[in-house]
Amino acid sequence: MTTVDTRLEDRVDRRAGTASLLHVENLRVAFAGTEVVKGISFTARPGGCLAIVGESGSGKSVTARTLVGLTGARSRVTADRLDLAGTDLLHTSERAWRRVRGSRIGFILQDALVSLDQLRRVGDEVAEPLRLHGWGTRRTRAAKAVELLRSVGVPEPEVKALQRPYELSGGLRQRALIASAIALDPPLLIADEPTTALDVTVQAQVLDLLAAAKERGTSIILISHDLSVVARMADEVAVMRDGEIVEHGPARQVLYEPRHEYTRLLLDAIPSEHTRGSRLTGPAVRVRRPVDRDRPVLQAHNLAKVFRGPDKVDRTVVNDVSFELFGGETLGIVGESGSGKTTLARMALAILPATEGRCCCTAHPGRRCLPPSADRYASRSAWSTRTRSAPSTRAGPSARS
Ligand SMILES: Nc1ncnc2c1ncn2[C@@H]1O[C@H](COP(=O)(O)OP(=O)(O)O)[C@@H](O)[C@H]1O
Ligand SMILES: [Mg+2]
Repeated sequence: MTTVDTRLEDRVDRRAGTASLLHVENLRVAFAGTEVVKGISFTARPGGCLAIVGESGSGKSVTARTLVGLTGARSRVTADRLDLAGTDLLHTSERAWRRVRGSRIGFILQDALVSLDQLRRVGDEVAEPLRLHGWGTRRTRAAKAVELLRSVGVPEPEVKALQRPYELSGGLRQRALIASAIALDPPLLIADEPTTALDVTVQAQVLDLLAAAKERGTSIILISHDLSVVARMADEVAVMRDGEIVEHGPARQVLYEPRHEYTRLLLDAIPSEHTRGSRLTGPAVRVRRPVDRDRPVLQAHNLAKVFRGPDKVDRTVVNDVSFELFGGETLGIVGESGSGKTTLARMALAILPATEGRCCCTAHPGRRCLPPSADRYASRSAWSTRTRSAPSTRAGPSARS
């Protein structure tokens, strides 16, 4: 019988460079009697990247979760073979899975951003696999977490490590997740849509990190709907449809000379280097009524937001922003990750008090701008914020009196 703790074998395999690290044969996953992964097979080899592509609901994420034993108690997983360098992953106890996850298989699951523990410090979240696997002391783990955050391009990592996930932008949180996934330099990395929520600048940094891991001999299973990402990273591509792999081959062949009709349709439909930013076939958005220039619905005047960091340093994240939104109009707010878009939207919704400036919802004529209150917010009438250096002023339910 093989023991789970066979990291040495992983390393030997990694150096060998050719032998497969992970073997998956006839994998089937069912929930409540309904099969959603229907007998798929693939291998992953050291220093290689297998991309799994396919439309939403085709079983990609379920496959990823199966490979880290996270399909849940209500699932039924069977396979002719599911092994990682000699370790049988099919008959693995929860205790044994805990030794595999993080150390032998690093993973970034889809929607993991929302599952970060909001009450724990980012540094502790990043260092969690180190702690679970008994790496170092509390102090050395904290230092390693800062190093990891730095290595994934997080600015001011010492400060960010002390903050909570909700204080970080989506791009920074995703980088923190990646830092955590690579903390123990696992031989296999599973990344489910790791760049979907990121702007192109951060996306490029994340891909560089994955490419560097691959260069070091890490085996990567990448799930992405973005063909430019797949084209850049993948050596092999498997195309999933309705729980099955309909086409599987070298990336170049699958992406540029697809054999299966479904792959051809998929390639036409999903974003690629060439299609990103261009219009989808047919108008994507229909304007139902003309813009009413006389009637601003929302007015933001000189909104600013300053956050005080754990190092007691104030940082301005939104600086003097004003806009008017008219009836029937769609206002697009764009900018790279961390530029203040979400903070601006939260101030506009009175979820977050502004440090300076005010925001008026003038959808109801005759109403004046009033201080924020949960009741007024709920009834969608007029509200505004003016809360300079007034930490006791809060929007949202806590303002209810
Ligand atoms: N925990 C679950 N319980 C029941 N059905 C699930 C569960 N997770 C996923 N599914 C179903 O499995 C199918 C494949 O889902 P998923 O792997 O998330 O697709 P993809 O990642 O390719 O978009 C879907 O029909 C989905 O509804
Ligand atoms: Mg998915």
